[in-house]
Amino acid sequence: MQQWFKKWFNTQEYSDLYKHRDETDAKKIVSLILKNIKLKKDSKVLDLACGNGRHSVLFAKKGFKVLGIDLSPFLISQAKGKLKTDYKKFKNNLRFEIRDMRGIRRKNEFDLVVNLFTSFGYFEKDSENFRVIKSISSSLKKGGHFFLDFLNPPYLKRNLVPFDMTGAKSYLKSIGNPNIIIQVREIKAGFVKKNILILKNLKNSKYPQIYNFYEKIKLYSLSDLRRVFNSSGLKIKKVFGNYYGSKYEPVKSERLIILAQKK
Ligand SMILES: C[S@@+](CC[C@H](N)C(=O)[O-])C[C@H]1O[C@@H](n2cnc3c(N)ncnc32)[C@H](O)[C@@H]1O
Repeated sequence: MQQWFKKWFNTQEYSDLYKHRDETDAKKIVSLILKNIKLKKDSKVLDLACGNGRHSVLFAKKGFKVLGIDLSPFLISQAKGKLKTDYKKFKNNLRFEIRDMRGIRRKNEFDLVVNLFTSFGYFEKDSENFRVIKSISSSLKKGGHFFLDFLNPPYLKRNLVPFDMTGAKSYLKSIGNPNIIIQVREIKAGFVKKNILILKNLKNSKYPQIYNFYEKIKLYSLSDLRRVFNSSGLKIKKVFGNYYGSKYEPVKSERLIILAQKK
């Protein structure tokens, strides 16, 4: 369970479940970011926990030099695959590396670091999560920016869906229909935990294959993050509540999106 993120994000099932989180979806936050900071051509961008590189390619398309880092070999291979498609022409601006976010060893290098779509709070200990913020700060040039797109704990606590199931009706009708996906969510001891059960419908068998995955994310509030940003040399400049740049409202906002600058 502790290393859940190593397993879950390295699967086809993760990519399938979040297939709507594609480049079209990524454009929303990339445009919010670029509306709020001025980046010169050739600026260096670090997409930390870049997944399949859906944001990285958009930054490269804008003329920035992008490094995408992610722990998942599966997602990094999908990201590299994008360099063989229409994005080929930006390949001099794009690099992807398999690496743990706790081990960024770059100093004063980037104009912008982004950590998007809840790619933070994965470790059991606060010290490990906060070490990520500290190394982000070290990797930024003075005056460089950090954009964190995190879940919003007060909103999540009020709106948590404890259980949902998709696919069951069509699954029962006949083999060859969609998989059944059951998700059970709870908030416990400051973490939101999700248990994901997938019953995969195999074409050549009467019986489904059963997969079980977990997610477990530490719920950091804006004031927790303000404290750790401050002590890491990052000053919070703006806080947004969604991808369209609305003002952050603790109880109403779906997201907690922070724009900070290295002091
Ligand atoms: C929710 S996904 C978001 C991916 C991407 N930012 C996006 O918006 O599509 C979280 C990502 O964090 C990566 N990840 C998890 N633990 C990591 C770690 N310790 N170091 C680096 N990346 C990690 C996963 O492999 C996954 O790609």
